[in-house]
Formats: sequence, C-alpha cells, structure tokens
Amino acid sequence: MIAKLQAVRGMNDITPAECHRWQSLEAILRQLMHRYAYEEIRFPIVESTDLFKRSVGENTDIVEKEMYTFEDRNGDWLTLRPEGTAPCVRAALEQGLLHNQQQRLWYLGPLFRHERPQKGRYRQFYQLGAEVFGMAGPDVDVELVLMNARLWRELGLADEVTLQINTLGTQGERQAFRQALVDFLTPFHDKLDEDSQRRLSTNPLRILDSKNPDVQSLLVDAPRLQDFLQDESTQHFSAFCKELDAAGIKYTINPRLVRGLDYYTHVVFEWVTDKLGAQSTVSAGGRYDGLVEQLGGRPTPAAGFALGMERLLLLLETVHGADYFASPTVDVYLVAVGEQAEARALVLAEQCREANSSLSVQCNCGGGSFKSQFKRADKSGAKLAVILAEEELQRGEVTVKYLRNDKAQETVPLAQLATLLANL
Ligand code: HAM
Repeated sequence: MIAKLQAVRGMNDITPAECHRWQSLEAILRQLMHRYAYEEIRFPIVESTDLFKRSVGENTDIVEKEMYTFEDRNGDWLTLRPEGTAPCVRAALEQGLLHNQQQRLWYLGPLFRHERPQKGRYRQFYQLGAEVFGMAGPDVDVELVLMNARLWRELGLADEVTLQINTLGTQGERQAFRQALVDFLTPFHDKLDEDSQRRLSTNPLRILDSKNPDVQSLLVDAPRLQDFLQDESTQHFSAFCKELDAAGIKYTINPRLVRGLDYYTHVVFEWVTDKLGAQSTVSAGGRYDGLVEQLGGRPTPAAGFALGMERLLLLLETVHGADYFASPTVDVYLVAVGEQAEARALVLAEQCREANSSLSVQCNCGGGSFKSQFKRADKSGAKLAVILAEEELQRGEVTVKYLRNDKAQETVPLAQLATLLANL
C-alpha cells in the first residue's frame, strides 16, 4: 500500500476560509506599522547556520534542539530561520542600512522550530517582527510597547493580555551574575531536575525560568540579577518604567523573565494571556545592544519584538469568536444556459468587472443546468445572479435576480447592465 501523504507534523495548511482571517489581520498589522513609520524588510527563509549560533547562542534550546539544519549540495551548513532578529540584522548590515542611520523595520513570515507541537506551538509558525536600530532607548523601547498596546486596544484584546518586563543588564553584568548563580546552585546540584542540571553548565540563567516548583523553591534565596546591575543599567530600566507610567501602560516587573535567546541586554518584555493555556506569550522582545557588533557591524544600539500570528489569531477566536473578521463573498454570479449564452458568458463577466472594479464576479464554468448553476450561485454567497439565456440574449437582454433579498427580478437591456452594476 502507498503511504498516505500528509503535511509534516507541526506544520499547518491554511485553508481558504482561514486565509481570509490571516489576510485581515495582516492588513491591520501592515497599517499599524505604517502608522508608526516602520518600513518592511524581507529576507530569505534560509540562512547560514553560523548566523544563529553566533546570535541566538550555542547553548540555547533553539540552537541545541530546535533548528532545521542541513548540508546543501555544496557542503554548506544552512538553517531554516528559527527567528527573525538575527537575519534582520544580517540583512540590514549587508544592505548598508545601519551605517550612521536610524532604522525602524518590520517583517512578517514563517519561522521554523522543531518543538513539540501543541495548541499555539507549531514547527512552522509566523511572526510579525519589528526591529529598530541606532536608538539607545528607552524612548524607542516604550514605542515598541505602545505599538503592541495599540494593537490590543484596536483588536478588543486590551483586557486579555498583560505586560511583563525585566532588565537583563549588559553582557558583562550578566556574566558576573551568572557566576554567582552557578556558585549558589552547585551545592544543590542533586536537587535540581535533569534540565536544570544540564543548564547549570550551559545556560544557568534559564534555570530562573524553570516551571518546576522544587527548582523555584531553591531559587528563593538565590542571588538576584538586580544586585549586579551598575548605575547605567538601573537608570535605563527606571527611565523605561517611568515612560511607561507616563504613557499609561500597566506592567508587572518579573525578575524571572530571562527570554530564551542570548542576545538580549537591558529591557526585555513579554505580553502574556491566560486564554491560551501553556503557550501564553503572544508577543515578546527587548533590547539587544551587542548583536550588531557581534555580527560584524559597528556598535549599534537596537531593540525589537515579535508577535506570534497563530497565537494572536487563536486569541481573537477565543475572545471574539471565529467570525470576528467577516468573510468576503462573491457579489455577482453569472449563470449561462445554452450554447450561445455560454459562449458569451466570459466576455460578459469581463464587462461586469469593467463596470465596477470593486465587484467580485464569478462566471459559471463547466456548464450545468439552470438548477445546478443556481445552486452554485447560492453557495458562492453572491448577492445577485446575472442570467444569460438564449431567448433573451437574442433580444439583447439579461435577467438580474437578487439572491439575498426580496427584490423582484428584472430584465435589463445589455446596454444598461453596466450602469446597474456600477451603482451596486
Ligand atoms: P520568541 O520569544 O522566541 O522571540 O518568539 C516571539 C513570539 O513568537 C512568541 O512570543 C510566540 O508568540 C511566537 N512563537 C515562538 N515560537 C513559536 C512556536 N513554536 N509556535 C507558535 N508561535 C511561536 C523571538 O523570536 C525574537 N526574535 C523576538 C525579538 C525581536 N526580540 C527582539 N526583536
């Protein structure tokens, strides 16, 4: 027996009905980006594996366990992008966009991570990302938060998400804290779960993130990153908080918020919801002042965020129902019965589209009886049917039948059809 062909686990088809919801959301996001004067950038889905190792970090879950990496026919190691920030920096550098300039950029597209699929977590998923370069913050950090806040308000989700923030300081401050954390936890090595034991030598900060209550209780007396921050970092964070206050944004400071990617510095934030189960982070980001230099550019302050499209769509559906975005329907269905009528149908449909460019006109193709064509017209959702029949055609007329209201059908001279459609 031939094995049944199926989509790859964790990778989803988007049906025509769902595509409409995606497009509606994408249009809102494009408009949002424009309103904040961000410009779109597009970069490839495949990048050299090194890019992610050097940015996301060798000892992160993403690089250690989740990347789709392969050797191509030239023997080069390539990776399906697991996130957008590093490729965005790579592209901006390569295109000369970062030299002595500020940039506000955004992108939207698929990412790939080999995680265990569940609701809100997929192996191919989509992000809307925004990245800013050449601004040291915290003003622009707040702008990034405000864009999210506006989106929630305008989508009726303001009561469904909350903002958590933290500061991770500089790489140097984190290094000192990391050592102190390792020194503190090493005597408790045997009490840590397997994951945390491994992280103790690879990425100890991620232990703070552990969901295991036993690990969390060990951490109560652990050193705190705040105590390792120098004045500059503390000031950046308190200025960030003050500007959020001034903008009327509510937030919670969560000292355990560390993020799963190594490039962050200073401000990090996550928008979380309690409506989606375990996959509760809808949008997340922060500042990454060292990354541009790390990838070969001059020192350039930078920050950004990315929001998960599937999670946002799930949240919209949970809160507002599946019909939140009204589906578009066909406006006019062209029915044609008889040889001569059928021969004229496509041309007449073109004339209908000409008459009113905002109409969606579906022309019956593949023949069929009056009855079966009307069935299709009804299923299409068309508001009216234009009927081409032999006899009327000889008189230069068509019949217009209203499918969604009680208006009586009318016979219209072909010459007047354009006017009727133009006024729809
Ligand atoms: P991230 O936290 O890894 O950050 O991902 C951002 C968002 O993408 C998550 O909050 C979530 O909504 C969505 N997401 C992540 N993984 C999955 C998945 N497997 N399935 C569905 N949705 C997912 C980044 O990627 C950073 N590049 C964000 C950033 C931009 N930081 C600065 N600039």
